[in-house]
Amino acid sequence: MLDVARRFRPVSFLRRFTDLLALHKLNVLHLHLTDDQGWRMPVAAYPKLTEVGGEPHGGAYTRQELSALVAYAAARGVTVVPEIEMPGHARAALAAYPELGNEPSRRLTVWDRWGVCENVLGVHDQVLDFCRGVLDEVMETFPSPHVHVGGEECPTTEWERSSDARRRAAAEGLPGPEALHGWFMARVGGFLTERGRRPLGWTESGSDLPVGFTAVPWRAAEHGLTAARRGQDVIMAPYRSTYLDYPQSDGPHEPPGQPGGVVSLRDVYDLEPVPAAWEPAAAARVLGTQAQLWSEYVPTAAHAEYLAFPRLCALAETAWSPHRDWPGFQRRLIHHRTRLDALRVPSRLPHDLAHHVPHHTPLGPPPGEETGR
Ligand code: ACM
Repeated sequence: MLDVARRFRPVSFLRRFTDLLALHKLNVLHLHLTDDQGWRMPVAAYPKLTEVGGEPHGGAYTRQELSALVAYAAARGVTVVPEIEMPGHARAALAAYPELGNEPSRRLTVWDRWGVCENVLGVHDQVLDFCRGVLDEVMETFPSPHVHVGGEECPTTEWERSSDARRRAAAEGLPGPEALHGWFMARVGGFLTERGRRPLGWTESGSDLPVGFTAVPWRAAEHGLTAARRGQDVIMAPYRSTYLDYPQSDGPHEPPGQPGGVVSLRDVYDLEPVPAAWEPAAAARVLGTQAQLWSEYVPTAAHAEYLAFPRLCALAETAWSPHRDWPGFQRRLIHHRTRLDALRVPSRLPHDLAHHVPHHTPLGPPPGEETGR
């Protein structure tokens, strides 16, 4: 997963990144296209999404660019899986279309902070129409079987305050406004399922998504087991093994990354996508594993490649190999580094880059503190 919402990356970079994935037999490029800080997916029915949400950090793709990327990736055995965040992480959409919010008269800017934003989509019919309209165009652009609709880090404070949302919860027979999250996800998930797609969502407990969703546990591997036991397919993405925005070491040369931890090459290598203790029925639910490159702390394309490799080499071996051979992996990586060098994948960042301070440094607490990572 590549976060192109927090930092826009041109398609030239995405094509090169796709080549690097294919080289490592990684067969999915999950594009995180929207978030509080940006909206990069063009939607003809809602042009302000990219006009407003494409700023301030960089821009947006055109439909032609994305379709060409899908074809380019397919020719290399890589499926591009789109992600449109809802109902949280949607502040860029709210900046473009305030009427989608819980206070339709309020004007919001695209967010210029990191962390979890309290502003979320409303739950009125117009919002569901919006989500369906966006997903229609997403499905036209991306033929992937799976479509990711986010779902995580959605504070319910605005719904609790809103009389409209409380009315909606009551009308739907829900116990309270908190239950609107599952209700909302069921609506968009059902919409995708009816059109032959499989909805994907981030899970924070293993039981917070409707059972029709393929669950992506990002906090703890055990949440994958919970979801699998409910009959959900699972893609393992526990942050301590697969979040590449954390520094790869605590060495002095390491550029600033997501605070709060280190995800070393060995940590990635030791990930067990199907933990041995899981019963066979649950184990059979694991479709695979994926790494995440969130981009709050990733100012440049070179920096992104530096963080991705060699940890994606470890992920590839972990994902595809039935057994572990850490000494052998390290030996083979010495030779493989020659290939990465020839492809100009940086193994170090120049000093000035390593100490580069992002132009929008966090104003609030670092995301790690708020996300419960
Ligand atoms: C996530 O880290 N927000 C899935």
